[in-house]
Amino acid sequence: MKVAVLGATGAVGQTMLQVLAERLPEVEEVVPMGSPRSVGKTLEWRGREWRVTAPDPAAFRGCRVALFSAGSQLSREWAPVAAAAGAVVVDNSSAWRLDPDVPLVVPEVNGPRVADLRNGIIANPNCSTIQLVLPLEALRRAAGVEQVVVSTYQSVSGAGRKGTRSYESELAGGRDPDSPFPGEIVGNVIPRIGPLRDDGWTEEEEKMRAETRKILGLPALAVTATCVRVPVAVGHAVVAMTVLERPLSLGQARAAIAGMPGVVLWDEAADPLPREVAGGDDVHVGRLRSDPDHPNVCHMWIVADNLRKGAATNAVQIAALVIRG
Ligand SMILES: NC(=O)c1ccc[n+]([C@@H]2O[C@H](COP(=O)([O-])OP(=O)(O)OC[C@H]3O[C@@H](n4cnc5c(N)ncnc54)[C@H](OP(=O)(O)O)[C@@H]3O)[C@@H](O)[C@H]2O)c1
Repeated sequence: MKVAVLGATGAVGQTMLQVLAERLPEVEEVVPMGSPRSVGKTLEWRGREWRVTAPDPAAFRGCRVALFSAGSQLSREWAPVAAAAGAVVVDNSSAWRLDPDVPLVVPEVNGPRVADLRNGIIANPNCSTIQLVLPLEALRRAAGVEQVVVSTYQSVSGAGRKGTRSYESELAGGRDPDSPFPGEIVGNVIPRIGPLRDDGWTEEEEKMRAETRKILGLPALAVTATCVRVPVAVGHAVVAMTVLERPLSLGQARAAIAGMPGVVLWDEAADPLPREVAGGDDVHVGRLRSDPDHPNVCHMWIVADNLRKGAATNAVQIAALVIRG
């Protein structure tokens, strides 16, 4: 079986190739695609060298799945082409996430939505949204959810190779003129990710709101986010305050979260930290607390690897659902 990877040379694309090798033994061939800068280079995958090509209609033919991770503009242009060539596109950009004809999937939460495929495209959510919705869905199943207020602590690799490059050059004492960040990131925190909209919220914050509503199937759910970039290499953290429909004791909240597939619940003795959980596929929940003043409010700290569960692993899990049914 053959799988195409558009953006195979990028931060997420490289991780996709790695996770494909780990999780989908039935995939024997890959078709890595990149920009004209990378065409002709070779990438090592499963002990063989694979030549990077430019996206091309013929290159998608015979691919069961095409994993896309080269930004929204390329996804808008190439996803319909790949789908017309017979591949199911799993798109990691924001291009198709809110399209009513495109399922937006986190397998542990709404995996069966994969069957709603209409135009050959399935969207992979935003990285912070993926790690939020797993424990949120666990709480929703236990006591219903009315509102969620989050603050994120997002690593520099969330801005792709450019983000990591700038962080590393600042650590070495330099300053990168191509930095994707609006200020110096080392020794700092920056409360702005993505463009600012006219209403004062950033696009990243609006993505968390709209995508959480779509994944949970709750179009009126109150969701507000403040998204912050922090000087961490890999691994995003999210603080979430959740208002539930019914009171939930701490014991009930712990049982709900501990029983959720893909989630690891930590006890009070230690906290999950980005540097320690990076490299794994689970979503880690710590600092779980009931609110002292509101019996239907719950607080938690959620950490995951943004390149794996926040992007590549979730996409490969979707591909597995497509391939294995
Ligand atoms: N980083 C994260 O944690 C994360 C999480 C969730 C979603 N995402 C989304 O995933 C996508 C990729 O992000 P990333 O972080 O991997 O970015 P990245 O490291 O900058 O990689 C971008 C990839 O796109 C390719 N590309 C750029 N222009 C191209 C063109 N004209 N034709 C073909 N390929 C082209 C690049 O190829 P070259 O190497 O040839 O330039 C590279 O492989 C974005 O939509 C991002 O929003 C990222």
